[in-house]
Amino acid sequence: MTVPLSADHADAVVAFFRALPAGDRTFIKEDVSDPATVRAWVAEPTGGSRWVAVADDGTVRGYVAVLRLSGWSDHVGEVRLVVAPSARGSGLGRDLARHALVQAVEAGLRKLVVEVVPDQGPALALFTALGFTGEALLRDQIRDRDGELRDLMVLAHHVGDTWSGMTAVGVADALDGHTD
Ligand SMILES: CC(C)(COP(=O)(O)OP(=O)(O)OC[C@H]1O[C@@H](n2cnc3c(N)ncnc32)[C@H](O)[C@@H]1OP(=O)(O)O)[C@@H](O)C(=O)NCCC(=O)NCCS
Repeated sequence: MTVPLSADHADAVVAFFRALPAGDRTFIKEDVSDPATVRAWVAEPTGGSRWVAVADDGTVRGYVAVLRLSGWSDHVGEVRLVVAPSARGSGLGRDLARHALVQAVEAGLRKLVVEVVPDQGPALALFTALGFTGEALLRDQIRDRDGELRDLMVLAHHVGDTWSGMTAVGVADALDGHTD
């Protein structure tokens, strides 16, 4: 079940991030090894831009956020997505990303971006299927755990231009009844 992140899930979210391999935590960018980060999120008045996938036993299996940029880019949202390694390959990542896309369109965002390491096949496949396309390649932009420089790809989804793509992935159906 995908639900907005709230104080009810704070402990489960902290446990979820703690259990992730360190390399996977870096996709979130914020310091999610510190429980204070998660507690600050649930206290945010802006709520609604972060969602978690919660299993029947209350454990968190995935997290997605769409963070609105500021100033003259406040029509753009940055997606951050991670799924527990044990839950991967069963469609959860796609469901979370699709959910985030629908919510972002409803919130009026015009463009979404996501940063992906080029050798992350599942992430590339997932976002491409949702209508994201390559927009920039940032060379030597990040360091991996061994200190090696790695490239980073920016994928983008232009909401207005890709409406037909959204129809293809069922996003328009999900929006039915919510937009004019
Ligand atoms: C990217 C990520 C969220 C995908 O989560 P997931 O739950 O495994 O994704 P899904 O099961 O929905 O799979 C989505 C697509 O990825 C591809 N995929 C999934 N597992 C794969 C694998 N082991 N190898 C290659 N491709 C794979 C498939 O194309 C799949 O689509 P399909 O089911 O139509 O074949 C997950 O791998 C992850 O958390 N990675 C680390 C963080 C990250 O890279 N985040 C993205 C940038 S913020």
